[in-house]
Amino acid sequence: MRVAIRDHGLPTRADAQHLATARCPAPSVQQIVAADAVPPPPVLAMEQPAYLGSDPVDLARYHDPAVFAVEVEAIWKRCWQWVCREDHIPEPGDYYTYEVAHLSYLVVRQEDGSVKGFVNSCRHRATKLKAGEGLGSAAEIRCPYHGWSWSNDGALRQVPCAWDFGHVDPAAHALPEVRVGRWGGFIFINPSPDGPDLLDYLAPLPDHFAGWDIANRFVEVHVAKELACNWKTALEAFLESYHVLETHPQILTGVGDANVQYDCHSDHITRFYAANGTNSPHLAQPLGEQELLGQVLIGDSSLHDPAMQVGAGETARTVMARLLRHAMGEKYRTDLSRFSDSEMIDTIEYHVFPNMVLFPGLSLPMVYRFRPISSDPERTLFEILFLRPNPDDGAAPEPAEPTRVSEAESYASAPGMDPGMGAVYDQDTANLRAQQQGFHASATGVQVLGNYQESRIRHFQMVVDKYLAAGEPRA
Ligand code: FES
Repeated sequence: MRVAIRDHGLPTRADAQHLATARCPAPSVQQIVAADAVPPPPVLAMEQPAYLGSDPVDLARYHDPAVFAVEVEAIWKRCWQWVCREDHIPEPGDYYTYEVAHLSYLVVRQEDGSVKGFVNSCRHRATKLKAGEGLGSAAEIRCPYHGWSWSNDGALRQVPCAWDFGHVDPAAHALPEVRVGRWGGFIFINPSPDGPDLLDYLAPLPDHFAGWDIANRFVEVHVAKELACNWKTALEAFLESYHVLETHPQILTGVGDANVQYDCHSDHITRFYAANGTNSPHLAQPLGEQELLGQVLIGDSSLHDPAMQVGAGETARTVMARLLRHAMGEKYRTDLSRFSDSEMIDTIEYHVFPNMVLFPGLSLPMVYRFRPISSDPERTLFEILFLRPNPDDGAAPEPAEPTRVSEAESYASAPGMDPGMGAVYDQDTANLRAQQQGFHASATGVQVLGNYQESRIRHFQMVVDKYLAAGEPRA
């Protein structure tokens, strides 16, 4: 059933001051969370908006093979990007293969617990050393073609018929290394030897996440789907909430969509902060607190309790947060009492340039990754992972195996995916193919962006342009 929506007007020309400061007239996220029974930590109580201009943005960036070729050199060969979780490769010899565009790398756990990263290509005749992508474990790195082999630290170990390769200096034929960085339980690589180290690149993300212990979580769900669009097309669908009104009308009763907060913290880090358990400003007839409680969209619908009641002086948000602290605490065998109402129920989403989106909240605990496939600028691999808290006692669960879902299949078919969440992702996917086709059909060759709600998209595009222009990593 479609809910009644307020009428919309047409925009009127505004001066520069208004363009920079216009906001939805509904209560801001900060005003909403200030009324919570357990208020959010300081890191959520700050705002860092950016007005970056109102110029149209060209569309060639989404499909032009020449632009894509420069992106491979200037972004994918020069930026930090995460490969796997620490838990994917716990033992010496464990490895994880990572592919982006036509590039391929592997990270390998060493005897001393450190991790090395290598280019996944043989020093003999360039065959991929590990086929496909994902997990494995081996005592050495051995090429499947002629059997050259390397120790797991990358040193050349054996060359069949060595008598025929007297011209090969073993020391000069180690596997080419790429930089490895580790933060928050993620293992990152950077193919470039130049540029900032990982923590400088991520700033201020590690400071923001100081209270969220993201390293102490396990992969409960891992779903991957190939999309018929550019990697930036797919990523940008998750940088704004403007589309919720038209694309996801079923969640308007319970999500503050038009009053989402958007922050631009650094070149590499932006944030989206949405209050849940509240009315969409678009609703013509806002729901009462008890009605909101029955509507709240939370990542795991099995945790809803239909008998919940909003007591005197309480809000739906506070009741939902209290329920989830208890229900999730029992389910994951951990104490969640330190988390605020907002951390329990809201959508808190950080974008890490270029292709990582990370949610520290407890009930919406996703990680997204967007990667171009092969040399085609109009194919993207989109992955969704759910990170759940490790138990306070006992071993952490093993990471879930990735499940591939075809473009035509519903996300809801993936193991562990909540049906309501799956439906939302399906709606997003339907937009992406149509948008990519529309880039080619456009009469103007440009797009128009909202000044605030789509400020993270503009910011992202500006950082892409900086990399393409400079060909150098940015601090
Ligand atoms: Fe790798 Fe020959 S191509 S051993």
